[in-house]
Amino acid sequence: MCGIVGYIGHDNTAIKTVLKGLYRLEYRGYDSAGLAYAESGQIKIKRAKGAVSGLNDKCKQIGPQTLAIGHTRWATHGKPSEENAHPHVSFKRELALVHNGIIENYKYLKEILKDEGYIFSSETDTEVLANWIEHAKLRYDLALEDAVHEALKGVHGAYAIAVLDSTGQKIVCAKKSSPLAIGIGEKEYIIGSDATPIIGMAKDVIYLEDDQIAVVTKDDLKIRDIDNNDTSYKAEKLLLDLQAVEKKGFDSFMMKEINEQPETVADCLRGRLTAPGPEIALGGIEAVMPSLLRARKIIIVACGTSWHSALIGKYMIEGLTRIPVEVDYASEFRYRRPIIDSEDVVIGITQSGETADTKAALELAKTKGALILGIVNVVGSSIARLSHAGIYTHSGVEVGVASTKAFTGQVAALSLLAIKLAYRLGYIDDEKLMDLKDALEEIPSQIQEILDDSTAIEGIADIFSQYEDFLFLGRGISFPVALEGALKLKEISYIHAEAYPAGEMKHGPIALIDEACPSIFVMPKDNTYGKTLSNLQEIKARSGRVIAITDVVDEDLVNSVDAVVVVPKTLPELTPLLTTVPLQIFSHRVAIKRSRNVDKPRNLAKSVTVE
Ligand code: F6R
Repeated sequence: MCGIVGYIGHDNTAIKTVLKGLYRLEYRGYDSAGLAYAESGQIKIKRAKGAVSGLNDKCKQIGPQTLAIGHTRWATHGKPSEENAHPHVSFKRELALVHNGIIENYKYLKEILKDEGYIFSSETDTEVLANWIEHAKLRYDLALEDAVHEALKGVHGAYAIAVLDSTGQKIVCAKKSSPLAIGIGEKEYIIGSDATPIIGMAKDVIYLEDDQIAVVTKDDLKIRDIDNNDTSYKAEKLLLDLQAVEKKGFDSFMMKEINEQPETVADCLRGRLTAPGPEIALGGIEAVMPSLLRARKIIIVACGTSWHSALIGKYMIEGLTRIPVEVDYASEFRYRRPIIDSEDVVIGITQSGETADTKAALELAKTKGALILGIVNVVGSSIARLSHAGIYTHSGVEVGVASTKAFTGQVAALSLLAIKLAYRLGYIDDEKLMDLKDALEEIPSQIQEILDDSTAIEGIADIFSQYEDFLFLGRGISFPVALEGALKLKEISYIHAEAYPAGEMKHGPIALIDEACPSIFVMPKDNTYGKTLSNLQEIKARSGRVIAITDVVDEDLVNSVDAVVVVPKTLPELTPLLTTVPLQIFSHRVAIKRSRNVDKPRNLAKSVTVE
């Protein structure tokens, strides 16, 4: 969940580079931040509770440095505080370490270390790891990299670590289950828990594999395998540019990302709709198409916003292909003894490609012989690599903690998958295929139309921003859109919001309705429209205030509601790609009216790499 940055090189820019990287990685955790460097044979650290700016203030006096490691934290063990912030210096000040992940057996290791006279100054598992490595180093008189190798043999859990010692000659990195990237620049190396701190600094990057150890000096990078032998590595081109991590004139990353959706959805569709012949081209799944077409059932696992797109995928895939689809929270899946076998297909949907629950669910399904597909945004991420096949969403770097463009990218990818399967299985003919493809092609410009009208949506948000409770309602494929609308509102504005299928209202939730609890109906004109309109009237009859998101100008509706947003018309299967966007704009505006930090909502982290 946390962010790691490291720099080693011939320039004296280590502190500046690490701070810059930490600012870029702040979306991964913003409880506290810190950095370490070595000077005159001694380890020095600076740490601060809260945002990276606090750390920046403390680093102003540091002289030129050629190596440093830094960290931005999302607390797992121990509250957010300066003492619990990383880096952690080992007890005898031999080394400093930053860590992303969880050391499962830290209590056991701590007891051993306490018996050896170690005293701890924080509540973290990370300090235990620092001391555990130091203990190996001193006990066997080892070089830093050998001590890391030796110590990790006794460690259970997930980690990405960067370690330096008091000599200030090298940074040693290792990983298991948590990602770690090393950018290869001109006479310098930049380490990151993802590629964002590396963008603009290096053109080539390597992603460390599980159980590998990297030894990085000013002039050299060596990778060792699980047996501590040198092993070869292949660098990849880093294709992201600086624009990906800048706000491009918007006030927040979230607003920038909402506005990028015409482009990002187009990127997801690019080349896939226009391939020669009628078929949709999804190169990443072509090899496994025979198994997919034979699938007895599809299970989709995901978390949060990605789980909402999974639900939309269920409506799309079942509706178009008649293949049964189950959707499960990844965190529930593995503990419910799921029934899966080799005739099933399990799809993991994930923006980051690193979500621990989703990864664990897919790993379990893999052991049962199921075909694993990943619908993933981050290229080369852990879930992309563990999947047998998959579809990249090509949404670009998403910095805002609340997912927006990644969600529409996932829904676009799912629609491509559903249409492709339906056509191959013979459930849709050439004409229907062309209708769907044409409709998809129009989506980016239709999203742009909604964005062009965002002032009207913001006006509605201004009127409704004072309420403390909201209900979001929809039927069919619009129900998951309602869920996503409620999640967006609660996570960035901290307003209580719930979503229900509109037909469920009268079975309980309608008791909440009064003037103080507005409802937002997601109700494009599909086969459920008439029923949803009746549900809406039931709310109005109980003095509830109502906002409707629809795609028709219907007098009955306009006369019944307090506000209406009309999105462009598309095919019923694709409406989530449009009805979601006004909800994103609405939530963003309400949060801004309440002076919330929309990019970094409290208690949240972007990449949830712990279970
Ligand atoms: C909410 C949000 C989260 C993520 C969830 C899964 O706006 O972003 O709910 O969707 O943590 O993350 P990924 O998609 O990276 O697996």
